Amino acid sequence: MMKKMMISPVSFILSFLLIIFFSSHAAAQDFWPSDYSAPQGPAGYSSKKSGNITVDDFVFSGLGVAGNTSNVFKAAVTPAFVQQFPGVNGLGVSLVRADIAPGGVIPLHAHPRATEIILLVEGTVVAGFISTANDPYIKTLKKGDIMVFPKGLLHFIVNSAPSNALIFASFSSDNPGAQILDNALFAKNFPSELIAASTLLDVAEVKRLKGVFGGSG
Ligand SMILES: *[C@@H]1O[C@H](CO)[C@@H](O)[C@H](O)[C@H]1NC(C)=O
Ligand SMILES: *[C@@H]1O[C@H](CO)[C@@H](O)[C@H](O)[C@H]1NC(C)=O
Repeated sequence: MMKKMMISPVSFILSFLLIIFFSSHAAAQDFWPSDYSAPQGPAGYSSKKSGNITVDDFVFSGLGVAGNTSNVFKAAVTPAFVQQFPGVNGLGVSLVRADIAPGGVIPLHAHPRATEIILLVEGTVVAGFISTANDPYIKTLKKGDIMVFPKGLLHFIVNSAPSNALIFASFSSDNPGAQILDNALFAKNFPSELIAASTLLDVAEVKRLKGVFGGSG
């Protein structure tokens, strides 16, 4: 005996409504390129209107050029975060280029909103992160190696080789944020006595580092 294929009226109506829902919303949910002219809300940039979105919102050409490493860290980071690259807005990804001169360093820092994966394209570096159990995970990377820095953990990259290092790094956020330990302590006006009290460093050493990083107080 043949079994009759039956579709109940309720499931027919539900399927119909689902099709209507998804087809009418699909286009609007594909992407949200940042509208830099509109005010930012707690969720970040609002989206450009569809009439103003072009392929150029999804292409960023700034990472082909080495950054300027004439600074105290002998390193430069060129970001393609949501602030520079409209197309990644709301998509949860972004990328940077890092150039590190011989003897240079990407200093100890953390990204509060993203896990990071680095790819060493040129050079040899020592890279590492520190877990919340205070264990250091450190490795010498060779050209072609990749390493992942878990979200929120302090990490660093040192170029101890005699050649330049070139790194591309991707993030699990369009807006990873970065807190650089030296800059957080020594680049602004966090009172030196409070830094000394909260880190157990000497006030004299705190003031010396404030001189290096441009801080006061
Ligand atoms: C498109 O961008 C222009 C220039 O920023 C602006 O004047 C216009 O209102 C925008 N159109 C839409 C539909 O948002
Ligand atoms: C690199 O930065 C240094 C220090 O800010 C500056 O003096 C120099 O002109 C810059 N070089 C280039 C090529 O922009």
